[in-house]
Amino acid sequence: MRILLTGGTGYIGSHTAVELLKLGYDVELMDNLFNSKITVLDDIEKITGVRPAFHKIDLLDKVGMDELFKNGRYDLVIHFAGLKAVGESVKKPLKYYENNVGGTINLLESMKKYGVKKIIFSSSATVYGEQGVAGLTEEMQTGVGITNPYGETKHIIEEILKDVAEAEPEFEATILRYFNPVGAHESGLLGEDPNDIPNNLMPIIMKVAIGEISELSVYGNDYDTVDGTGMRDYIHVVDLAMGHVAAIDHMKPGVSVYNLGTGRATSVLEMVAAFEKESGKKLPYKIAERRPGDLAIIYANPAKALNELGWETKLTIEDAMRDTINYLDKKFKTRA
Ligand code: NAD
Ligand code: UD1
Repeated sequence: MRILLTGGTGYIGSHTAVELLKLGYDVELMDNLFNSKITVLDDIEKITGVRPAFHKIDLLDKVGMDELFKNGRYDLVIHFAGLKAVGESVKKPLKYYENNVGGTINLLESMKKYGVKKIIFSSSATVYGEQGVAGLTEEMQTGVGITNPYGETKHIIEEILKDVAEAEPEFEATILRYFNPVGAHESGLLGEDPNDIPNNLMPIIMKVAIGEISELSVYGNDYDTVDGTGMRDYIHVVDLAMGHVAAIDHMKPGVSVYNLGTGRATSVLEMVAAFEKESGKKLPYKIAERRPGDLAIIYANPAKALNELGWETKLTIEDAMRDTINYLDKKFKTRA
């Protein structure tokens, strides 16, 4: 099976590429390298022994996209490419709608033109908005109470995929709603560049660890949770990558939706403690105001992915912290 990974050199795309290559899939990557580096290809090759073909193309380049599909003969697209900085999306909404929604429409048009009928899409738990329940299931309402344009783009793209499936009976779309991806490849070669998204907890913990930020601000300690701090469902990026592998084997006509999460929630202070335990160093933090738009506790009900895809997470928060620290040691030696 020939698979195109859009955003393939990014954090989640690169880890998924590794798992697919290890299983012998014929994988090609495309990316505009806006938020990733070409050297990721060297790292993928070091890990797998295979250097996948790479195409530097922007989703918004219609001619380039058509050219890619004309020559590619792909059976499936895994669509990771997109902008993901929540704070920036509030300041530059048009950029986010153009890139994420406009880019996906271009992709779907090229797929249609060249007869590619299967797509797996990187969505987010953010589409659930504000629900009164913490263990989220796929059939719950989406699109209400989303607090930022980034989240809106994910919801809109999900709706577009449903409409396309309605219009084209042979179209197969799998929507994967990721919870909070963390961790790195055990080799220490691939991981999340902490410079990319300064708003999320783990990249900020990484920046504190390498001394670029003096301390972590914990956004609120008066929530109704184990220790008052916000709780989330942190999923190791390699488990997440394996979720895509499982999804490939179970594609079917129409739209299928799966949560990819662990089903467990961990608090901010538990994350700090786990990082400190693995690194053997104190992580400076202070308690700050609640962040607007935050909920106390969010986690997946991952039963559908287990029942239908036979997939469940295997790695722990400790694994994620160990792999993140290993990645930081290898990548940022000079700054550590
Ligand atoms: P990432 O930024 O590391 O990877 C995305 C890649 O897409 C980058 O390499 C970027 O250069 C590329 N890209 C962006 N716009 C493009 C365009 N117009 N044309 C071509 N390439 C383009 O992000 P990631 O963490 O690997 O996320 C992958 C996907 O998963 C994204 O769609 C993201 O929204 C989604 N997601 C991520 C998280 C998370 O916390 N990391 C959570 C939920 C969903
Ligand atoms: C955030 C976004 C969400 C997006 C997701 C993935 C908001 C309100 N939500 O979700 O739309 O889909 O990222 O990109 O921005 N925390 C701190 N200090 C920090 C950073 C975070 O205490 O400096 C806490 C948060 O309050 C939260 C937890 O850590 O309790 C996780 O935060 P984060 O990594 O931003 O993820 P989400 O809040 O799940």
